[in-house]
Amino acid sequence: MTEITIHRFRAGEGDLLGQLFHRSVHEGAAGAYDAAQRAAWSPEPPSGPVWEARLAGGLTLVAWTGRDPVGFMMLIPETGHLDLAFVAPEMQGQGVAAMLYGLLERSARRRGLARLTTDASELARGFFLKQGWQDGPRRRIERHGIALHNYPMAKSLKPALERAA
Ligand SMILES: CC(C)(COP(=O)(O)OP(=O)(O)OC[C@H]1O[C@@H](n2cnc3c(N)ncnc32)[C@H](O)[C@@H]1OP(=O)(O)O)[C@@H](O)C(=O)NCCC(=O)NCCS
Repeated sequence: MTEITIHRFRAGEGDLLGQLFHRSVHEGAAGAYDAAQRAAWSPEPPSGPVWEARLAGGLTLVAWTGRDPVGFMMLIPETGHLDLAFVAPEMQGQGVAAMLYGLLERSARRRGLARLTTDASELARGFFLKQGWQDGPRRRIERHGIALHNYPMAKSLKPALERAA
């Protein structure tokens, strides 16, 4: 099995992750969103200082095989919002997102966060349901004039007893 290492996003890695994001949308999400929707979601690989700052603005974990990034996920610790979750198409279904998510959830618990939220794509919805999240109703969003959809999702990190009290 391919050896995967995970480390925190480092300055200067933005362009590589932008290319991964673009491939993940166009190849990885092809079963759930049509070509026009994928083009609206990622017209071109994100890059440059704004993208780099977005990645640096939260707890972004990157999975690597050797020198190639194969997935990344970002938690905004101040709000508990999971902002980005993308895995390279050829590595999907091999537990990469589960590894990244496991570390982020552990970090969120250590920080005392009570709840995690995200806006999940069709594919991420299946993934997060598997991680014990709850989904809300399918929501229509618009990107560059094209309609797409996602699902508001959340997971309580409080123990069940505390939630019932
Ligand atoms: C969503 C995504 C990040 C999941 O990454 P992944 O590395 O393939 O997921 P994993 O292999 O870690 O999956 C972990 C578990 O979730 C399940 N799972 C993953 N995606 C699923 C889906 N769409 N539907 C149902 N179950 C799913 C896996 O079967 C696996 O189950 P197991 O524990 O029984 O083996 C990946 O499919 C992706 O990058 N998609 C394209 C881009 C995208 O939509 N990103 C989300 C933006 S909000």
